Amino acid sequence: MKKKKEKQVRENRVREKRDGTRILLFTGKGGVGKTSVSAATAVRAAEMGLGTLVVSTDAAHSLADSFDRPIGPEPVLIDKNLWGQEIDVNEQIAKNWGPIHNFFMKFLRKRGFDAIIADELAILPGMEEVFSLLEIRDHALDERFDLIVIDCAPTGDTARLLAIPDIARWYMERIFKIERAVVKRIRPMAERLLDTPLPTDDVYEAMEKLFYRIMEIKELLVDRERTSIRMVLNPEKMVIKEAQRAYTFLSLFDFGIDAVVVNRLLPDEITDPYYGKWREIQAEHLETIRRSFEPLPIMTSRLWDQEIVGCSLLSQLAAEIYQDRNPADVFFHGRPVSITPDNGRYVLELPVPFADRSELETWIHGDELVVRYKNYKRNLILPRSLANLELVKAELTGKSLRLTFGGQDHVEEA
Ligand SMILES: Nc1ncnc2c1ncn2[C@@H]1O[C@H](COP(=O)(O)OP(=O)(O)OP(=O)(O)O)[C@@H](O)[C@H]1O
Ligand SMILES: [Mg+2]
Repeated sequence: MKKKKEKQVRENRVREKRDGTRILLFTGKGGVGKTSVSAATAVRAAEMGLGTLVVSTDAAHSLADSFDRPIGPEPVLIDKNLWGQEIDVNEQIAKNWGPIHNFFMKFLRKRGFDAIIADELAILPGMEEVFSLLEIRDHALDERFDLIVIDCAPTGDTARLLAIPDIARWYMERIFKIERAVVKRIRPMAERLLDTPLPTDDVYEAMEKLFYRIMEIKELLVDRERTSIRMVLNPEKMVIKEAQRAYTFLSLFDFGIDAVVVNRLLPDEITDPYYGKWREIQAEHLETIRRSFEPLPIMTSRLWDQEIVGCSLLSQLAAEIYQDRNPADVFFHGRPVSITPDNGRYVLELPVPFADRSELETWIHGDELVVRYKNYKRNLILPRSLANLELVKAELTGKSLRLTFGGQDHVEEA
């Protein structure tokens, strides 16, 4: 009887998980085709019957251009099963930031800033990202949509966006409670002495609520069955370099990357010799992309002879990319690279298809890690935190290569 009940609970849990809103995030360098690929993915999912929302977190929205129709700060119906939204920071501020914003305003006014400047300054850098996250959290939790496709701002901002929950957690655990307790004690005297308002309890309460909501998002985002990040790139040197960097950065934060989309490949029907050299260059870059991101699936789309605007063309773009696959599937389940802190060192683990240590070579060139084994070559751009450390150990353990970074002997000291 007990066993049966346990099985039921387990099945319910699996069902809950499967039924939860799926989230896809598209990231990449400026101009590579993120908005087009996000919109195409959403169109395709909606055609397959999934209630889909495509939302842009980039302040310079271009979803409306991609669909060639106005899209507002609330989800608007674009087509059957398909909604679009361009998040408006000002609206989000009014919704989430009320007491905190008022406090900052009061504080800045008291310091002599005029009302308009105080209003501008009370919006802190990074808040656009924070509010985008909150909106996505709300949508994911109310389960109105089966799928949320997020068209992100260019890579750097996406990295910032995804780091926010960790920063919030750090602040809440290390600073917030102490600061709140101290301010409570010293407020009556300090306000008189400093002639400056200090945050009151309702401000702290609003902040606490906000931080907890942000922290919840991390759980949604690192759940690999729910959230996948897809990297969009073009076969160009600078674009690849940025994607490689993003790849290790995202792995450091343990986000699930499940595919790479290479957009703007020269199509086979172009035989003009003018493009011959370009074709060679692209083939080389495609090889680098394979070496950098395998075993992630790599999907491609060609350079079109026109702009890709409107549902019908977007649907064709999605057919090229996904062929007969469902874009909402998780295309890769494992961790292609994992980076874990270990007593002051970092351990980078890569699954590798070989077991013989003798022909393995690893070296670091600038911020690039190269692993070579016979014909196999793998390039990874290291995140800054690792590139500055020495590679102290390289071991093969079963099916993976374990690289330990960190010059100091923290392990022995601990
Ligand atoms: N495969 C393609 N062939 C031809 N044109 C394309 C292709 N992919 C995208 N485009 C066009 O390139 C332009 C830029 O694409 P898009 O807006 O999707 O890039 P983005 O990465 O979102 O840019 P941003 O970083 O500015 O947000 C658009 O006009 C789009 O129609
Ligand atoms: Mg865009």
